[in-house]
Amino acid sequence: MRLDVISIFPQYLAPLELSLIGRARREGLLDLRVHDLRDFTQDRHRTVDDTPYGGGAGMVMTPEPWGLALRQVVRSGKGEPPPRLVVPGPGGAPFTQAMARALAAEPWLAFACGRYEGIDERVYEHAAQDLGLEVSVVSLGDYVLNGGEVAVLAIVEAVARLLPGVVGNADSLVEESHEDGLLEYPVYTKPASWQAAPGVRRDVPPVLLSGDHAAIASWRQQQRLERTAARRPDLLHPSQAVAVAPGADALAGLDLAVATPADAAELMTLTRACWAPEMAQQGTCGAAQETLQDVIAGLAVWRTWTVRSQGRLVASVRTRPSPDDPSRWQIGRLMVAPDLQGRGLGRALLAFAEADAPSGTTTYCLDTSTRSQTNLRMFRKAGYRVATPQGAQHGTVVVSKARR
Ligand code: ADE
Repeated sequence: MRLDVISIFPQYLAPLELSLIGRARREGLLDLRVHDLRDFTQDRHRTVDDTPYGGGAGMVMTPEPWGLALRQVVRSGKGEPPPRLVVPGPGGAPFTQAMARALAAEPWLAFACGRYEGIDERVYEHAAQDLGLEVSVVSLGDYVLNGGEVAVLAIVEAVARLLPGVVGNADSLVEESHEDGLLEYPVYTKPASWQAAPGVRRDVPPVLLSGDHAAIASWRQQQRLERTAARRPDLLHPSQAVAVAPGADALAGLDLAVATPADAAELMTLTRACWAPEMAQQGTCGAAQETLQDVIAGLAVWRTWTVRSQGRLVASVRTRPSPDDPSRWQIGRLMVAPDLQGRGLGRALLAFAEADAPSGTTTYCLDTSTRSQTNLRMFRKAGYRVATPQGAQHGTVVVSKARR
């Protein structure tokens, strides 16, 4: 990727010679060129600013040096499509991880570092209309810096680390704050027990030492949600902040209702989300392949429960007496939205579905995939045992439990 930075303080960009960005430059992954705007002035004093028309405080950057500098940068591309021009400024669109990703997909970026009260507006027009550049004004946040240089340092670092080869371990790019809309979980390293001060020991949360990967993943997800709710509630859909109480109370605070055809489209979406891993493994899966009409038809022959949080469908289950043997209570389509799994909602919903059984029920039964160890473990813990090794569909078993 090529990057051109135009500034009246080229030395400000020196940190881009350090660390991973510096190494990427030396390895040829980044072609970063810094230009001194004053080299494009034509007077003895190398003037780059003047007083604003219309009056007001401060100085405005004059258009001539900017025009010359931008034209030279574009010309140096020798006929290549021109760069996208990023102009940092407090009046710009917020710089986000999504924008970093979009910028990282560009072959060439140019940055114009403004100072003082800003750059003469005609420079933006000239860049867009005469030079054909896509111009993006980008703000680091709702505060005012002295100039664009610090913002360029931040933007270049956020963009460059997304380029293949710049960050050694590509996996570390995935589990990060803002990559999926949540803040990162807290991290710990050795020692497991730290003597922080005389008489004060600080221990790593025990779950991280347990070796139980499912428990660790679930703890981390919960930490991410709690952290995001505490520090950046604006990032969360209210439904994600569901505080799931442990055990049977997990459904407290959620809205349970019997589904109607008006719920069918959302049920279909939830089903597909929940059965996606099975689809990926097996290439086929009855539940995930149902049409909207199939889902609506299912509502007529099962009692389907919806669980909503702040209006969002977050879980569902359906029940009915077995058509062959009404003493058997069938439970099906037990599903919890992927971002809320591992928090006891499924277990609580299963208990709810059992309690929904009429008197006369002797057995609860359900058909489940043999591939999901997590589900099989959950049913086992809830007292279910395999009753029929071959379920209604290929790759499923029937598990059952006697009603007590
Ligand atoms: N220049 C001055 N303030 C800025 C900000 N908040 N973001 C980006 N560039 C700036």
